[in-house]
Amino acid sequence: MKKIFILSGAGLSKESGISTFRDSDGLWEGYNVMEVCSTQGWEADRNKITNFYNDRRKDIKDKEPNSMHIFLAKLEEKYPNQVIHLTQNVDNLCEKAGQKDLIHLHGTLTDLRCEQCHTVFSVGYEKQTDQTCPNCNSTSIRHNVVMFGESAPEYVNLPKYSDEAKIFIAIGTSGKVIDIVPYAKNAEVSIYVNPNREDYTTMFGSFDKYIDEFFTHKILKPATEAIEGLEKIIEKEI
Ligand code: APR
Repeated sequence: MKKIFILSGAGLSKESGISTFRDSDGLWEGYNVMEVCSTQGWEADRNKITNFYNDRRKDIKDKEPNSMHIFLAKLEEKYPNQVIHLTQNVDNLCEKAGQKDLIHLHGTLTDLRCEQCHTVFSVGYEKQTDQTCPNCNSTSIRHNVVMFGESAPEYVNLPKYSDEAKIFIAIGTSGKVIDIVPYAKNAEVSIYVNPNREDYTTMFGSFDKYIDEFFTHKILKPATEAIEGLEKIIEKEI
């Protein structure tokens, strides 16, 4: 039974030098997200997209976890079996920090996937060149990042852990891809960690208004500066 459900996004890794998506006008390292992260873009030019992910994989090689990644990994040690972290990030900084109970909702840069049998296998920081599937020997291989236009099988874990956990923590996500409001509503205690009060219109109204209405705590600071406040709330509420 998990008591703490963490959902993180690109803001968590920003202070480690990895850029967010929407802070840069929908550009991911200068590329249009909808081109490099959609099935249309992939079908239009597989080589271009493969090269793009090769570069992203290389980029994260020297990146280090920041103090929030480390805090979250330690939280798991402090409360064994009570913390689950679902991340939208495809980098491996949570793993580098030592986090174990971690689910990547949008895939992983350091793996490749077989298009025939769907086996996921590690490639580390290497380029995707002419790898074959270790399971079925297929040469039909792709990056392991979930694209717009595809299903995200790990999303089943969102309602599961939302129902289970007492505390919901949203760190560094705009909520524009995964709506965080239902999870905040569902939790006994919910914490919004983000230096910005995101302000946009959802299907039901203003997201900004929902931050006040449904989050019991707001820490409007960059992730690494939010640790002390976050720790205090967790200690009190768990
Ligand atoms: N600490 C915490 N949050 C921060 C920081 C920081 N230092 N700096 C920026 N942020 C916040 C921004 O205010 C923003 O709300 O991080 C959020 C990043 O939002 P997005 O760029 O939209 O990233 P994310 O929510 O992870 O995007 C979700 O979109 O394109 C897809 O698949 C991609 O997983 C990604 C998904």
